[in-house]
Amino acid sequence: MQEMIDRLRSEALAAIHAADGEPALEAVRVAVLGRKGSLTGLLRGLKDLEGDAKRDAGAALNALKDELTAALDARLLAFSGARPVTAHAYDLTLPGRAPAPLGSRHPLLTVLEGICDIFYGMGFSRDDGPEVELDYYNFTALNFPDDHPARDIQDTFYFNEKVLLRTQTSPVQVRMMEQREPPLACIFPGRVYRNENADASHSSEFFQIEGLVVDRAVSMADLKDTVDTFVRNFFGAEAPTRFRPHYFPFTEPSVEVDMQCVACGGSGCGVCKQTGWLEIMGAGMVHPNVFRAAGYPDDRYTGFAFGMGIDRIAMLKYGISDIRLLYENDLRFLNQFRGVQ
Ligand code: PHE
Repeated sequence: MQEMIDRLRSEALAAIHAADGEPALEAVRVAVLGRKGSLTGLLRGLKDLEGDAKRDAGAALNALKDELTAALDARLLAFSGARPVTAHAYDLTLPGRAPAPLGSRHPLLTVLEGICDIFYGMGFSRDDGPEVELDYYNFTALNFPDDHPARDIQDTFYFNEKVLLRTQTSPVQVRMMEQREPPLACIFPGRVYRNENADASHSSEFFQIEGLVVDRAVSMADLKDTVDTFVRNFFGAEAPTRFRPHYFPFTEPSVEVDMQCVACGGSGCGVCKQTGWLEIMGAGMVHPNVFRAAGYPDDRYTGFAFGMGIDRIAMLKYGISDIRLLYENDLRFLNQFRGVQ
């Protein structure tokens, strides 16, 4: 019996495989499983067997029937090009229940990256420093006298006498110079903190981007050219800039840089408080005491530094009237920047 079953199996499988279309396959099915089929005949013959022989042959024939039925179905599916339907069939072409909400880049980050790109184009590299900073780097190494008002607890968040939240990105200047020898051209964007009462133009946290260039014979003309190149590229206009004398402990001479008001083109409006100018950054030539703190030899190098508030630039660029909107994570505000470059 077993021999007959084995032969039937190999013949039937060969015939299924050889069938070259649905009619040929159907003929095989009838010849094997049909009423007068070879397998059906063997199943009928079971009644002439007894005991163990009957049980074993029955099991073997039924297993063969299942196997050949599956082989016939699979071959039929192959002809029709359909995919097998299983208990876990998924229709991947159905639309989802709800569109997944897409996030968007925060406008501050868009502006930050946009500013960085312009400086990369001028050959600057980018670096970083800690937000929890030592008083030494935030003030002392930057030539702030001990009694400078910026050190006052009213302006600075202190953890203790020596550790604070940086109030500016300028401490990264000193960290950078301690690590590297000139020539240096670096930018350091990052978050800074001041103990301010929040209003439309003040926030206790905001972003600055610092720039530092140090080499032999770097001049104030290099500073002016760098700033002008940035403003022209970022605001895309022939917006003139002007330097106003100012004071920072860590630069000498120091300036504040204004650009012509982007809102009115210089004729005077609410955005520029009728002056026609907008202040965009502080800058100056690196003070010799800062070089000294960084460990550079006296009189070998000169350099310039600048620092600007990214929030203010973002507000100017997008016409945002309240700085607090940048920190409240209100989706009604943020969703307006989907796809904005
Ligand atoms: N750190 C200064 C500020 O926060 C800006 C500045 C940076 C000025 C570098 C000069 C040079 O106001």
